Amino acid sequence: MVSIKVILSFGASLALASPVPATPSPLLMDREVGQFNASRPNVTIFATGGTIAGSAGSSDQTTGYKAGALGVDVLIEAVPQLWNVSNPSGIQFANVGSSEMTPALLLNLTQMVQQELDKPEVQGVVVTHGTDTLEETAFFLDITLRTNKTVVVVGSMRPATAISADGPINLLGAVTVAALPSAAGRGVMVVLNDRIASAYYTTKTQANAPDTFKSYEQGFLGYLLDIKPVFYFQPALPTGRPYFNVTKAAAAHLPPVEILYGYQGLDPKLAAAAVANGAKGLVCTGMGAGGWTESGQKALAQLVKDNGTAVVFSRRTMDGFVESRPVGYGAGSLNPQKARYTLMLALHAGYGDEEMRALFESQSPA
Ligand SMILES: *[C@@H]1O[C@H](CO)[C@@H](O)[C@H](O)[C@H]1NC(C)=O
Ligand SMILES: *[C@@H]1O[C@H](CO)[C@@H](O)[C@H](O)[C@H]1NC(C)=O
Ligand SMILES: *[C@@H]1O[C@H](CO)[C@@H](O)[C@H](O)[C@H]1NC(C)=O
Ligand SMILES: *[C@@H]1O[C@H](CO)[C@@H](O)[C@H](O)[C@H]1NC(C)=O
Ligand SMILES: *[C@@H]1O[C@H](CO)[C@@H](O)[C@H](O)[C@H]1NC(C)=O
Ligand SMILES: *[C@@H]1O[C@H](CO)[C@@H](O)[C@H](O)[C@H]1NC(C)=O
Ligand SMILES: *[C@@H]1O[C@H](CO)[C@@H](O)[C@H](O)[C@H]1NC(C)=O
Repeated sequence: MVSIKVILSFGASLALASPVPATPSPLLMDREVGQFNASRPNVTIFATGGTIAGSAGSSDQTTGYKAGALGVDVLIEAVPQLWNVSNPSGIQFANVGSSEMTPALLLNLTQMVQQELDKPEVQGVVVTHGTDTLEETAFFLDITLRTNKTVVVVGSMRPATAISADGPINLLGAVTVAALPSAAGRGVMVVLNDRIASAYYTTKTQANAPDTFKSYEQGFLGYLLDIKPVFYFQPALPTGRPYFNVTKAAAAHLPPVEILYGYQGLDPKLAAAAVANGAKGLVCTGMGAGGWTESGQKALAQLVKDNGTAVVFSRRTMDGFVESRPVGYGAGSLNPQKARYTLMLALHAGYGDEEMRALFESQSPA
């Protein structure tokens, strides 16, 4: 029996409000769990917290529990079947509810994941995450990682203490997909509820139920049948998917971008207030196909002209395309939270007007 390394953040906190620094002096623990087998794929599991590591007082409690209560070692120990498909090893990146994940943490996370993927002895990576903002992290990883290996983001809707907790089977599904070389070439994937989805397109659609991650228009990439991945399509990448290289040391900070919501009688002054507060870009969650009020558009045009604010229009409707207009780029099929990370990374990369337009227009049909 060979021991595996479980790296736990020193002082990993249960408090939701204080994210654990990504690289504190690690406490290395040797554990005799599972059977190492050199011919099986090595899969590294980055744990960030969330419901999948959540704990509640009773088995019928699926709300109001403490997210991010269990460490990655507990998650791995709870699913010995992981050893049948991989040599799993865990890195405790953070232990927070997903609302506490930040752009700064994502920059660190993607750099750490890239380093892991670049190791020849690592075949795949899994990231465990709270579901509320899982799509943001998964999307961010998708457009900032360069790899031919498989990366899967996974969470659960029920805490580990719940009856029919979905965390263990979701984790086993995620590691099984990450360990499969033929799963690669589809971008980062999201695995929950036996479904394999593209991180680029998938979104959380239901606040409470386990069948929440969907991409209505684009569909699923595949299914897990008896925890064996079945893909519906050959590997393919999302149309227009950009790549942003944030491995550079200079990438310590992303320009702030705020999201405004569109509704009848919206206050046009909120846009300038956000810019006065430091926003370098604005994503407008427009009505219908990105519609905005006339007074609101005037205020935005002023900010674009006077303050160099980058404005992107997305939609508050569930799906569909938003096209560019004279003032403001259209987010194509990207929802506001995905358009926001795209804009932050493009601003960070120093994109000018033409590059911005090309980037966002590549998200829509020509
Ligand atoms: C990111 O990593 C750097 C260097 O490893 C560290 O100094 C910083 O505190 C980390 N930031 C966050 C938000 O974890
Ligand atoms: C190690 O894994 C390989 C491939 O899955 C398998 O054929 C072999 O039987 C395993 N060895 C042991 C000792 O479990
Ligand atoms: C692993 O696979 C073997 C052979 O199929 C099986 O006997 C064993 O129960 C499995 N172990 C786990 C933990 O699922
Ligand atoms: C898994 O990692 C070990 C070292 O920890 C290495 O010896 C082995 O070759 C790796 N397995 C694969 C399939 O790369
Ligand atoms: C992925 O594989 C292709 C084709 O073999 C190769 O050209 C490319 O460099 C690889 N990319 C990475 C990041 O390893
Ligand atoms: C990203 O930037 C780093 C540092 O400049 C460089 O070493 C690396 O090759 C780049 N990666 C890609 C995929 O372009
Ligand atoms: C935008 O730029 C104008 C002209 O320089 C300046 O007067 C105004 O204060 C700026 N607005 C904000 C919200 O920063």
